[in-house]
Amino acid sequence: MPRKDTIFEQFLAPIFKNVLIDQDALLRYYKSIDWNRECDRLCNPAVTYPSYYNQPFHSIEGGYLNIDAAVSYDPITQYVLPPNEPLVRQELLDRIRVKPRRILDLGCGTGSSTLMLKQHFPQAQVIGLDLSPYMLVVADDKAKKPG
Ligand SMILES: C[S@@+](CC[C@H](N)C(=O)[O-])C[C@H]1O[C@@H](n2cnc3c(N)ncnc32)[C@H](O)[C@@H]1O
Repeated sequence: MPRKDTIFEQFLAPIFKNVLIDQDALLRYYKSIDWNRECDRLCNPAVTYPSYYNQPFHSIEGGYLNIDAAVSYDPITQYVLPPNEPLVRQELLDRIRVKPRRILDLGCGTGSSTLMLKQHFPQAQVIGLDLSPYMLVVADDKAKKPG
């Protein structure tokens, strides 16, 4: 159970939940996906999760291994990578000085950087890998969308 007496839980979480995050949009997105089917498709049943993995991460109850974490990751992350999330990610990509043939984005989450890597290095095979099938479902969904 995550601590409830942190500055995040007391002051920031209510602002995220009630002001910054469009809860209706999150619900619509949640309902637009057949989570069981998609997770079955992307999950590797042979994976053994490390013991740290189910611990709360950054106040995310149950860590990343749940639908809520996957659905809320992008809407929250846009506010925690100032001044601008795509800019921060692009800065990282601009530091890559080689022309890779194959890229493994380990811990790719919802695939934001994975997709940017593919745009930046179209010749490369880009693989996104994550322990959470829920994160991978969102990443796969984003990869299929135009643009
Ligand atoms: C803070 S998120 C970052 C996601 C993404 N890289 C980004 O820039 O938005 C950390 C991710 O690492 C994943 N992760 C943690 N430990 C992992 C491991 N041992 N193997 C693969 N993925 C892992 C989590 O499931 C989570 O999606």
